[in-house]
Amino acid sequence: RMSRRLIECRRDIDRLNAPFLAIYESLIPAEEEKAKQKQLLTLLEKLVCKEWPTARVYLYGSCANSFGVSKSDIDVCLALDDQDINKSEMLLKLADILQSDNLQNVQALTRARVPIVKLMDPVTGISCDICINNVLAVVNTKLLRDYAEVDIRLRQLAFLVKHWAKCRGVNETYQGTLSSYAYVLMCIHFLQQRNPPILPCLQGMKPTYAVTVDDVKCAYFDQVDKLRDFGSRNKENIAHLLWGFFNYWAYCHDYANSVISIRTGSVLSKQEKDWTRRIGNDRHLICIEDPFETSHDLGRVVDKHSIRVLREEFERAAEILQRDPNPCGSLFDQY
Ligand code: GTP
Ligand code: MG
Repeated sequence: RMSRRLIECRRDIDRLNAPFLAIYESLIPAEEEKAKQKQLLTLLEKLVCKEWPTARVYLYGSCANSFGVSKSDIDVCLALDDQDINKSEMLLKLADILQSDNLQNVQALTRARVPIVKLMDPVTGISCDICINNVLAVVNTKLLRDYAEVDIRLRQLAFLVKHWAKCRGVNETYQGTLSSYAYVLMCIHFLQQRNPPILPCLQGMKPTYAVTVDDVKCAYFDQVDKLRDFGSRNKENIAHLLWGFFNYWAYCHDYANSVISIRTGSVLSKQEKDWTRRIGNDRHLICIEDPFETSHDLGRVVDKHSIRVLREEFERAAEILQRDPNPCGSLFDQY
């Protein structure tokens, strides 16, 4: 097993806190943008219900999990009680309806892993993906939003990490790097294992919220307003945590043997997950357990080449935060 290398943080790290907070603030979407998202959702609701009166429309993903930076696309889920629908047919029909209502760039992607219709609304300028009955994504959206309510440092850290990943070109699942969702899980895990911890393990507590979706039991403690003091014994600021995050993924995580799991609030072994060898396209080179679909590794998109790219980027970021006189600039350099 890799031994944890103890590296001391630079002495002047606190000096970097204000500039990093300023970058975080600049990424928060304006109220006006939120209003435009609502406006588009209302339009979609109207169009959908005309054709399918019992359908419900949910927002999920970053526009609803509180990790959305400004100018994000929105993710919409159409929920229908009818289990026997043909998703492809329905998406094609939906695409027709949207096209006739002057929405732009309407495209039905019926063969994708998660089949969707894509569109752009010329009135608000917002792009949108619509999927059908992807209710687990709606539930994991709520879990992430609830975690964000516990301690503001999660939102700050995740915004900076997502921004870094976008600037450095490592937020592209089709190129073998990680999704935004995976990065947020990595941030939650990191804050759960700080000492003292900044986040609890909500799925390890007495459930106050429980649903069963596609045979998956989703249950956790969601009365997060009772947990507002949870992280208060830990005084680390965002500059320190950002440094710690990259240091963790550059030098402390045991890529050969470990699986991070926010569900258990700990690190599991690849052995116990039976994630020790390649099966199909799942290579398990960086292992991030989905909190509800526990057989699902969010690192499954990562291959032999992209794992190197990722680890080099974590090391680059850690080095910059350790030594660079002006890290707020170089950290986010376009690659
Ligand atoms: P940005 O759009 O980059 O701001 O982030 P996002 O959180 O919206 O990420 P993305 O558009 O990639 O994914 C949208 C949502 O789909 C996520 O927030 C999750 O709720 C869900 N999701 C994405 N990937 C997976 C996955 O592999 N498994 C599951 N269960 N849900 C996923
Ligand atoms: Mg999104």
